[in-house]
Amino acid sequence: MKTLVLRVDPRNPDPEKIVAAARRLKEGGLVAFPTETVYGLGADALNPKAVLSLFEAKKRPLDNPPIVHIGEPGEIDRLAVEVPPEAERLVERFWPGPLTLVLKRSPSVPSVTTCGLDTIALRMPKHAVALALIRGGGTPVAAPSANLAGRPSPTTAEHVLQDLDGRIDLILDAGPTAVGVESTVLDLTVRPPQILRPGGTPREALEEVLGEVVFHPSVLAEREVEVERAKSPGMKHRHYAPSAEMWVVEGEPEAVKEKLSELAEELRRGGKKVGILATEETLSRCRAEVSASLGRREEPREAARRLFGALRELEAKGVEVILAEGVPLRGLGVAVTDRLRKASGYRIIKAGKG
Ligand code: TXA
Ligand code: MG
Repeated sequence: MKTLVLRVDPRNPDPEKIVAAARRLKEGGLVAFPTETVYGLGADALNPKAVLSLFEAKKRPLDNPPIVHIGEPGEIDRLAVEVPPEAERLVERFWPGPLTLVLKRSPSVPSVTTCGLDTIALRMPKHAVALALIRGGGTPVAAPSANLAGRPSPTTAEHVLQDLDGRIDLILDAGPTAVGVESTVLDLTVRPPQILRPGGTPREALEEVLGEVVFHPSVLAEREVEVERAKSPGMKHRHYAPSAEMWVVEGEPEAVKEKLSELAEELRRGGKKVGILATEETLSRCRAEVSASLGRREEPREAARRLFGALRELEAKGVEVILAEGVPLRGLGVAVTDRLRKASGYRIIKAGKG
C-alpha cells in the first residue's frame, strides 16, 4: 500500500483535501490526522472491518480499545447510555479539548470498537483539521495515536511515516501538534471519577468542576501494576518506549544533575553511547555528547510538547541508553512524568536519597 501525504493548513484546511480524506474513511480506509494532542490514526468507528484493520496497521493488541472521536457534543447520546450529569458540565468546560470521557456504551457501537467492553471512550478534539475530517466523514472516528503499538506517540506527520509508511492510506500533515501528550482519560462510570491516563487536561482543572477526582493506581506507578482488564484495558502493555534502554532520574534538581552526570560517565566508560533528556537548567550544567531538551523546568507545558519528539530524536542519533530527568508533578508535569516512567519500563532512580 502506498501512503499518501497531503499537506493542509492547520487552521484553514483545503476543503478538497478534507473531502478526499473523509471519503477514504467512509470507504473503510485508514487516515492519520492531527489533533491538538498527538496525531491519531482514524477509521470509521461504526465499520467493524475498518476498525480491525486499524489494530492490524498499528500491531495493537486486541484488548486495548481506541478512543472514538466525535465532531459535536450531541453525538455522545448516539454512542453512550446512562450519561451522568457530570459529563455535560465537563463537555461545556473542556470540549473541544484534550479530555476523553469513559461512559457506558450504546449497543449501536460495534463490539470490536470497544474490544468487547461495556464502556466507550469519547472525545471531541480541538483542531480544525480533525473536526473538519470527522464532520466531513459524517461518522464517529475511532482513532488511537498514529504510532506502532508500544512506541512514542507521534507529534508530527514525519513520526507517523516513521512507524506506518506503507501500512495506512493517507496522512493529513498540518505540522507539529500543540499539546504533545495525549488526552486525559477520565472514567465517569465510577464514583469518584477516576483518571485512567493523565494527559492534556490536568487533574486540578477537572477538580474545579467535579470536586474530588482520583488517579487510577497505574497513573504515576513506579512499577508494573496488576490491573483488572475490564476496567483498565491495555494498561499491561509496554508504552511510549524508544528503542534505546531508558532510565528516569527523579529528585531535587541538584541531586538529579549529580546522578545524571555520574551515570553518564560510568556508561561512557563502559563504551555505551549515551543521550541525556533533561531540562535546560540541568543540561547547561551536565556534560553530554548527545542531548535533548525538555525546556525550562518551570514550564511543564513545554516538556509535554517536546517529550515524544525528543525520544525519537535521541533514538535516531543512535544512542544506546537514554538518561532522562523527571519533571515536577504540577499541571502537565504529571502526564510527562507518567510517560517517562512507562517509557523507561519503570527503570526509575531516586536521586539524593539513601
Ligand atoms: O489525545 C489522545 O487521546 C489521542 C488523540 C489521537 O486523540 N488518542 C489516543 O488514543 O491517545 P490511544 O488509543 O492511543 O489511547 C486510548 C486510551 C488507552 O489508554 C485505552 O486503554 C483507553 O484510552 N481506553 C479506550 N477505551 C476505553 C474504555 N472503554 N475504558 C477505559 N479506557 C479506555
Ligand atoms: Mg497510544
